Amino acid sequence: MTDIPVLTIDGPSGSGKGTIAQLIAREFGWHYLDSGAIYRVLAQAAMKHQLDLADEDALSRLAEQLDVRFAFDNADLKVMLEGEDVSLRIRSEEAGNAASKVAAIPAVRSALLQRQRDFRKMPGLVTDGRDMGTVVFPDAPFKVFLTASAEERAQRRYKQLKQKGIESNLSDLIAEISERDRRDSEREVAPLRPAEGALILDSTELGIDAVFEHVCAFCADL
Ligand code: C5P
Repeated sequence: MTDIPVLTIDGPSGSGKGTIAQLIAREFGWHYLDSGAIYRVLAQAAMKHQLDLADEDALSRLAEQLDVRFAFDNADLKVMLEGEDVSLRIRSEEAGNAASKVAAIPAVRSALLQRQRDFRKMPGLVTDGRDMGTVVFPDAPFKVFLTASAEERAQRRYKQLKQKGIESNLSDLIAEISERDRRDSEREVAPLRPAEGALILDSTELGIDAVFEHVCAFCADL
């Protein structure tokens, strides 16, 4: 047990939890953990070393030894795998899907548990993922579950890709997001669900500013 405060923000992909978590971390002057990036990097490392994404023993050994580092480059989170900047590569839909496959392996999750808990340092930590409030930081004093409809999340993703000059198909994005939701919610270990006592926010009709205000007010109330 520790007195270092933690705000956990869990939710499905595309709910805006990463954006909100980074804004709040900056506002509070707290550390930030993007737990999804760890699973994304693990899947990248597996592909780099030509491991089969279904080989549980090899993947859990890789998770134990994973050489991943995070650094802030101005406001941007930089993610390094074995010294190589993989920040952009890990953000593709393909990388997200591969991450959700390796993340369903129980031995992988336990190999990464302490690594995530080590981010809890003074003056506090804001973290986003799927099981931050339920498994990794069950004693966190502030827990939020941020969601939005699959259609709205796919729309946001579509716009993001378009801004980057990447054309995509909205109905394919809805199908991919729904499939990833299903895999993350139905897996046996650490499934996606709201932690007990979490503030549940549906951002389908809410902008970033409104979500930010709700989360700040929630933390101030406790
Ligand atoms: O949040 P993000 O989309 O980057 O996560 C990628 C994948 O990693 C998720 O679809 C999920 O399967 C997995 N993940 C997880 N537990 C977390 C964070 C992410 O299982 N705490």
